[in-house]
Amino acid sequence: MHQRIVILISGRGSNMQAIVQRCAAEGWPATVAAVIANRPDAAGLAFAREHGISAVALDHRAHASREAFDSALSAQIDRFDPHLVVLAGFMRILGADFVGHYAGRLLNIHPSLLPAFPGLHTHQRAIEAGCKAAGATVHFVTPELDHGPIVMQSVVPVLPGDDEDALADRILATEHVIYPLAVRWFVQGKLRLAGGIVYQLDGAAQLLIG
Ligand code: GAR
Repeated sequence: MHQRIVILISGRGSNMQAIVQRCAAEGWPATVAAVIANRPDAAGLAFAREHGISAVALDHRAHASREAFDSALSAQIDRFDPHLVVLAGFMRILGADFVGHYAGRLLNIHPSLLPAFPGLHTHQRAIEAGCKAAGATVHFVTPELDHGPIVMQSVVPVLPGDDEDALADRILATEHVIYPLAVRWFVQGKLRLAGGIVYQLDGAAQLLIG
């Protein structure tokens, strides 16, 4: 069945762009129906418009409370009746009601090897902790921030002399591989969630060593 995807962004949207491009290039049984940003100046909105995708700006600052923003956001998302909602650099915490509404069809990418380093400044924290490896995690979203069943991870070395930007760039290059792959598996019905573990039904590797 053809799947409709809605992608939420806050800024640059490079992960969103990678998903849009792979979806078109590989002929997924899916359409990116809309890109929604919580910041009107999010650069990714222009990319969406240029590619004929509905681009919606919903400024969280115009809403009196987190709950009010969450419900306005759901209303916008549900106009597109999505099978899958993809958080791609969406830098707002979403409430339990919102998360519950999209249970099992809400994915996120986080630039750390979860469950290590949920929250912000992940690259700097990995460097300061002396980690020898870092990476990114695609996971189903649960109400707890940056937790939830892991679909795929990438791992890269932390090199001597790395600063936050160098490590972020190395990880981001792998994000652009693993996020499209995870979304493709979802729309192809290749993911099964059992007991909090995500299985890829073809037995494909759910780890990228970058
Ligand atoms: C990505 O590195 C993503 O993993 C991270 O923000 C960046 C967005 O880049 N997400 C988070 O930190 C979420 N907690 P992009 O806008 O170019 O995709």
